[in-house]
Amino acid sequence: MPEKRPPAGTRVIKLPEAELLPDREVNFLELVELRASVRSYTQTPFTLQELAYLLWCTQGVKMPIGKGGSMRNVPSAGARHAFETYLFIQKVEGLVPGFYRYLSFEHLLLPLAEQIPWEESREAFLHAFRTRQAVEESAVTFVWVAQIERLLYVFGKRGYRYAFLDAGHVCENLYLAAESLKAGCCAMGAFEDAEVNRVLHLDGVREFSIYAATAGKVG
Ligand SMILES: Cc1cc2nc3c(=O)[nH]c(=O)nc-3n(C[C@H](O)[C@H](O)[C@H](O)COP(=O)(O)O)c2cc1C
Repeated sequence: MPEKRPPAGTRVIKLPEAELLPDREVNFLELVELRASVRSYTQTPFTLQELAYLLWCTQGVKMPIGKGGSMRNVPSAGARHAFETYLFIQKVEGLVPGFYRYLSFEHLLLPLAEQIPWEESREAFLHAFRTRQAVEESAVTFVWVAQIERLLYVFGKRGYRYAFLDAGHVCENLYLAAESLKAGCCAMGAFEDAEVNRVLHLDGVREFSIYAATAGKVG
């Protein structure tokens, strides 16, 4: 399955259309050189458009290509794109704080409030990260979840290697996209896998959190 489908009739949130997202003129070398990990953020929220921009740059689907593959804004071994993007959202205009998931093929946001109640899960999620403060201050923390069968089906066990490599590309695009917005971002690899998987209701075998990153506005 190219994407984890929500149950029929689930409420989804339309994101500003990818084609209409304002482009930003950047000096590429400057962008690359200015990229740095930023772990402290202001209280200023992202706009929904900015969130849509970050999602589009990291996992946006440009074109489905059949057999479960897709062409996206990041490379992926065999165009398998085995990730689901879970979001821990605290400060985005128009969104209540909570857990969400990006539906990349339709460019929609799926609220997970019923499955992952905010009040009960927020603390457990924060506690799972070694660099807790960055997550606590973040406007949004991204968690990339591998649905490993999408890769194993084509590549056998080598699919695990590709999952880790693919995750790096996704996070690098987040760094660059955040930098282009003059926002901050920090990769998060030091977290308790089992705890993040538990909070997100992942079995840790077929689907598991592989990488995360915090993002937010800076001074
Ligand atoms: C795979 C990976 C995992 C990381 N995990 C964390 C983390 O858990 N917490 C953190 O504060 N920084 C984390 N970082 C950020 C690194 O510490 C940072 O990239 C490094 O210190 C270099 O700094 P720079 O990104 O500003 O160039 C991680 C970076 C990578 C690539």
